[in-house]
Formats: sequence, C-alpha cells, structure tokens
Amino acid sequence: MLAFISLLTLLPSVLSAPIFGLKIGSDGPSSKEAATALTLGDVESTLSRPAKFARVAYCSTKSITTWTCGGPCKALPNVTFLQSGGDEGRIPLYFIAHDKSDKSLVVAHQGTSSKNILSILNDAKFALADLNVTRFPDTAGKGIKVHSGFQQTFERTADGLLAGVKKALADTGVKKVSVTGHSLGAAIATMTGAFIKKNIDPSVEVTVTGFGLPRGGNKEWADFLDNDVGVTFVSNQNDPVATVPPRFLGYQHSSGEVHIKDNSQKNFVACPGQDNENCATGNSLLSVNVSNHKGPYFDDISFGHSACPDGATVVKDDD
Ligand SMILES: *[C@@H]1O[C@H](CO)[C@@H](O)[C@H](O)[C@H]1NC(C)=O
Ligand SMILES: *[C@@H]1O[C@H](CO)[C@@H](O)[C@H](O)[C@H]1NC(C)=O
Ligand SMILES: *[C@@H]1O[C@H](CO)[C@@H](O)[C@H](O)[C@H]1NC(C)=O
Repeated sequence: MLAFISLLTLLPSVLSAPIFGLKIGSDGPSSKEAATALTLGDVESTLSRPAKFARVAYCSTKSITTWTCGGPCKALPNVTFLQSGGDEGRIPLYFIAHDKSDKSLVVAHQGTSSKNILSILNDAKFALADLNVTRFPDTAGKGIKVHSGFQQTFERTADGLLAGVKKALADTGVKKVSVTGHSLGAAIATMTGAFIKKNIDPSVEVTVTGFGLPRGGNKEWADFLDNDVGVTFVSNQNDPVATVPPRFLGYQHSSGEVHIKDNSQKNFVACPGQDNENCATGNSLLSVNVSNHKGPYFDDISFGHSACPDGATVVKDDD
C-alpha cells in the first residue's frame, strides 16, 4: 500500500500543475515528432550486448570475477573480467570487462528493483543538485543540475572506475568503451559515460546505453548528454520509472530513446527529440505496469538477481 501511495505521488504532470497548482519548475519542451519503427534486428545489433552486460551486473561480485554467473555469463563468451568496485550494498557494484569478440571494454553498473528505484526517486532529500563542476570543469556556468542521489552514488566509485578504464585501454589497446546499466545502474551509467568520455583519448569511441532509465537531471543536463555524450536508452512499455522524476519538477530526458510499445508483438520504435510524447513520456497513468521495469525487454532479457546462480544468497529485491 505504501509503495502504491508513493508511486502515485511520483506520477507526473497529469496530476500536477492544473489540479494542485504545483508547478515548481517549468516543463521542458517535449518532442511530438513521429516515432519510427525498428526491427528486432535493429534492436539486437546495437542493444543486445549492452543489455546482456547490464544483466550480468546483477550477479554476485564473486561470480562475475570468475565469469561463472550462470546463464547471464554464458550468454557472453569470450569476455575477460578486469576490475570491480562497490560493495553490493550502499555502493552498488560496477565491473569492467574486456569483450574480445567486440574488441571493446565494457563498464556495467548494477541496478536495483523497481520498488527501490521508485523510493530513491521519491525521496525528498534527493532534489536536483548542481553537477560537480570540479569533476566536469567544462560545464561550469551552464546551470546543469542532476538528481543528487544519483550523483552521490556516482561519486563513490568514479575515480577508481576511471583509473581502471585508463589502465584497461592501455593494456588491451581497444578503441571502444561501452557503458551500460539498468535502472539505478542506467542513471549512474549516464554520469560515468560522460566522465569517461571527458577524460580519455578522444579517439576512443564511448557509447552509453541504459535500460529502464529514470530522468536524471534538468534540461541543461539533457542537452549536455545530447551534445557531448550521446545516450541510447530503452523504455519498456508502461514502466513507470521511465517517466520519473516528473517534468514538472524540472527533470528532462535526453534524446536517444528506444521505446518498446509491445514486447510480444516485437513492436519497437526510435523516438526523436527529448521526452517524445509518442514514447514513454506520453504513457497514460492508468496503464502503469511496474513489472515492465524488470522486463522482459527483447530476446526475453530481464534484469534482476533471479537469473544468477547464487541469486538467493544476495539481497533479494526482485519484484
Ligand atoms: C574471441 O575474440 C577473438 C578476438 O576478437 C576472436 O578472434 C575469437 O574468434 C573469439 N572467439 C569466440 C569464441 O568468439
Ligand atoms: C567533486 O569532484 C571532485 C573530484 O573532481 C571530488 O574530489 C569531490 O569530492 C567532488 N565533490 C562532491 C561534493 O562530491
Ligand atoms: C505487466 O507486465 C508483465 C511483464 O513485464 C506482464 O507479464 C503482465 O502481463 C503485465 N500486466 C498487465 C496487467 O498487463
């Protein structure tokens, strides 16, 4: 019941401005451009590997270190584990691996359940905060604000992670870094991706992919991601996480959304612009389905501990 109430307080614009006069920030612009159809092949060719790595990030550190995390690891042969950080608790896990088949490094961030992510997003103490301009010097004076809880989580592992990526680039000689995650992990991935991109050789290609990504900052943050980073994120059907925190609180999605309109019909679309009304942003409040956060997305990929062999021994927070 509590979860239900907190979910309702989160639900966006429909309930807000006109009824309660609660217009706190101003809504950023939402795109109305038509979404374009994508085939399963389009989706798989760019999103399948990032999804599989984000799925591995839910398994225990021990099983990831030895690449023995059952189905999720078997789906990614030819991968060498390089480094991990976090403590599977307050500091969510991340790992760095060498994907030899793709000649790339992968940085994957662990996520959390829909219940936890919605409570983090609903926590009033996590308002928008200034982006750390010591860490991102070229953003000074741009008015960029991000979700303070996401930034605090990002800060806990940022330095060790960047050092690991730099060392791995030197050791392997690859020229590509793929940063990925689901849920909270997707939100952290956008910050990590930006941080890596600003601090490594510009000839290295950095891609950032998120699944079940909540809004992570204001319009200036969304513009920064669009202009300086480039994020692709997948919103699954009626996942409520994709539409929070609401735009009336000053949050805005970057562009790069791929929306799953209907998983069983393999109906996928690319959504031009920021907060496209034809995709998750236009979802009806009445159709919210919290299970859509976990999945399945495509190719029956779902995110959570349940796919890991030792899933029962780590904190069980699957919905
Ligand atoms: C593993 O990656 C190497 C390097 O790209 C490649 O030559 C080899 O065929 C791959 N092996 C498998 C089993 O995919
Ligand atoms: C901002 O980033 C710097 C490193 O660039 C770090 O030392 C500092 O702790 C960060 N500030 C906060 C509030 O996290
Ligand atoms: C909610 O989504 C799950 C899959 O994520 C699906 O199995 C279930 O049928 C959906 N519920 C409704 C009422 O559509």
